[in-house]
Amino acid sequence: MKRGGSEDAKRRAGESAADAVDDGMVVGLGTGSTAAHAIRALGREVDAGLDIEGIPTSFQSRELAHDAGIELTTLDESTPDIAIDGADQVADGHLIKGGGAAHAREKIVDAAADRLLVVVDDGKFADELDIPVPVEILPDARQTVADAVRAQGSDPELRRAERKDGPVVTDNGNLVLDCDFGPIANPTERAVALAELPGVVEHGLFVDLADEIHVGTDERVRIEEL
Ligand code: 5RP
Repeated sequence: MKRGGSEDAKRRAGESAADAVDDGMVVGLGTGSTAAHAIRALGREVDAGLDIEGIPTSFQSRELAHDAGIELTTLDESTPDIAIDGADQVADGHLIKGGGAAHAREKIVDAAADRLLVVVDDGKFADELDIPVPVEILPDARQTVADAVRAQGSDPELRRAERKDGPVVTDNGNLVLDCDFGPIANPTERAVALAELPGVVEHGLFVDLADEIHVGTDERVRIEEL
């Protein structure tokens, strides 16, 4: 699932988004290698006196934030002013996420934030969203959701773990079906059709959620406002 550009490009994007964080803010902390650069940059700012609280979106971002010395809070106590998160593909401002199987919590935190800053390298852009859409499902719904997405024209594949026998199990104890629809002409319709299937916890289509995209290249960073 994972694809991506150079570490330098990712670092530039992550650091650029971290620059947008001000004193006193609550920050949604995304998951993945590009968001990790933003978390590390925020940790350095915290060391230098920045006063923020973070809301992690995964085990990985919680661990990174803890190591970076960022104080943590939850959505029960605070609303994020800003969320910084990566993406697997970007087209027309819409995203496919979930390469790290964290998209359910990411969507909750990203959607709750006043502003979502997406951090990507420039290899993530496409004319149309066309990579498989990760769909987190309750384990009992594996067959029924697979049948239903097949009926919607997709070819679903249960995501397998790499250093464990069997499937990937998400931070929420669920499974992931990677659903290949080919090019997605209407992301809104696709998002609604997936969301209404019984047993679907969350899918990786993030439609109309991003406010800014910080795009890292090997030389510079550019910011696209949406
Ligand atoms: C995790 C995600 C990640 O944000 C996405 O996979 C991008 O990761 P990376 O920055 O490592 O390419 O959605 O579920």
